Amino acid sequence: MNARRTALAALLLAATLPLAAQAQSAAKLKVGLMLPATGTFASLGTAIENGFRLYVAEQGGRLAGREIEFVKVDDESDPSKATDNVNKLVKRDHVDVIVGTVHSGVAMAMARVARDTGTLLIVPNAGADAITGPLCAPNIVRSSFSNWQPGYATGVVAAQKGYKRAMTITWNYAAGNETVKGFTEAFEKGGGKVVKELNLPFPNVEFQALLTEIAAQKPDVVFAFFAGGGAVKFVKDYDAAGLRRTVPLIGSGFLTDGTLEAQGSSAQGLLTVLHYADGLNTPRDTAFRTRYAVTYKLQPDVYAVQGYDAAQTLAAGLQAVKGDTRQREALLSAMRKASIDSPRGRYTLSAAGNPVQNFYVREVRGNENKMTGVAVKMLADPARGCNLR
Ligand code: PHB
Repeated sequence: MNARRTALAALLLAATLPLAAQAQSAAKLKVGLMLPATGTFASLGTAIENGFRLYVAEQGGRLAGREIEFVKVDDESDPSKATDNVNKLVKRDHVDVIVGTVHSGVAMAMARVARDTGTLLIVPNAGADAITGPLCAPNIVRSSFSNWQPGYATGVVAAQKGYKRAMTITWNYAAGNETVKGFTEAFEKGGGKVVKELNLPFPNVEFQALLTEIAAQKPDVVFAFFAGGGAVKFVKDYDAAGLRRTVPLIGSGFLTDGTLEAQGSSAQGLLTVLHYADGLNTPRDTAFRTRYAVTYKLQPDVYAVQGYDAAQTLAAGLQAVKGDTRQREALLSAMRKASIDSPRGRYTLSAAGNPVQNFYVREVRGNENKMTGVAVKMLADPARGCNLR
């Protein structure tokens, strides 16, 4: 029955489209998934892919009539391999669109290749400010955030809480440094002062010496950016060092997203800020979470939402051209103008292609990052250095 219905739909489609478009709409749409399958961000890559595939499955395996074929590359969150890896998708596999990645350094190399080759790129995580700043381009959009955004929103909350002296701690690479910069901008605007920035190379997790320094300096608050496996270890080490009871820890929500089972009691009560949270309790989010849990036997996290919304963004572009990707201008323009009905709440893209979205305050309770309020409503990245208007 289903097969017959699909065949009938294909016939109807064929009757209404010119010949060239028919040939294209019959071909599969190749989606290149460039994500980490190994290393500290491996579980983030899995969640993004799960989310993307869930949306495609909800549409019956097709977007705007085009069957989706996936080609995958494990980028290992390794910037030194990034250009070769993305070129495999573009030059060897001739993908129609690239979806990736998690790591800001890898994603910047991807954005450069996308700019040079004109390949459509949807970034489902990496926050590198440059991607929607100096490297912005009509064929590059995000379904995630810029590093500045969660940093800035967390800085607003830390200042509101009345903290005056902060220390920051992160990995020394684009995401860590830019998140800390965003935090510092808002925190100091709100009357605080960042007294010391601590960091270690990505993806190292030898935190002991840095924790000793925090204990010695006793700031009012510590702001941290870590994610994935590194975030699990950091939160546990912070607790084991006795700091959880003496120096409040605040973070962009990646510190506790998708990590709570592994962090256990060490994460309880932590305050973080992010563009997604548990307990949003909207019909849209509840439907998404139920389907995700049934499909994968896992609770979704922010990465799953960003993957799901990457697929929604692609679908919005494809629908405007009935699956005919040769109508490039119309496809790109529809993607950039889309209003995305995200589980996080509806959002649109800025002129630079970055989500304009709410940032929620969350508190860890049990295995949930419970929403307790909104830190900043509809926060837009300043898009410094982007000349798309
Ligand atoms: C990044 O490298 O941009 C990055 C990685 C993991 C996150 C957030 C940002 O959770």
